[in-house]
Amino acid sequence: MKLNSLQDLLVSELQDLLGAERQLLQAVPKLLKRITHPELRKCVEQHFQDSKKQETRLEKCFQKLGVPVVAGRSHGIIGMISAWSEFESTEAQPDVLDAAIISMIQHMEHYEIAGYGCARAFAEVLDEAGVAELLQETLEEEEECDRRLTRLAETVVNVDAEAHSR
Ligand SMILES: [Fe+2]
Repeated sequence: MKLNSLQDLLVSELQDLLGAERQLLQAVPKLLKRITHPELRKCVEQHFQDSKKQETRLEKCFQKLGVPVVAGRSHGIIGMISAWSEFESTEAQPDVLDAAIISMIQHMEHYEIAGYGCARAFAEVLDEAGVAELLQETLEEEEECDRRLTRLAETVVNVDAEAHSR
């Protein structure tokens, strides 16, 4: 893909984010099967619903920019998912596994937060206020999910994981 303008860079970032959201949507059902804490399950299910909305918002961004909707490979997210899949075949204490799931999702969230933040900044300077607004909406959801996971880890899951460590 060409990278001759800031608009090209914005489109490239949007492609990566769309790839990331779609990878995440594929990964979540598998993750849900391994979760033990009900509060964590609720949080991940909520994020799954958010991710569907975020995918739609990204598609709208492409339309507003008048470029085709294309999902990139999102190597960052693919790498995180493949790192996680090593845990899948490992023997694990359920609470420790929940702590690992939170850590993995937060890695992904921070990746997405960086991507949405950069893309929003590009859209702002390009005077694409509609695109910037859609990206900001998603950014706030990602940040809220990240905060909820931190709270859950620090107040419940990490504490249980430590208590039940063998
Ligand atoms: Fe997302």
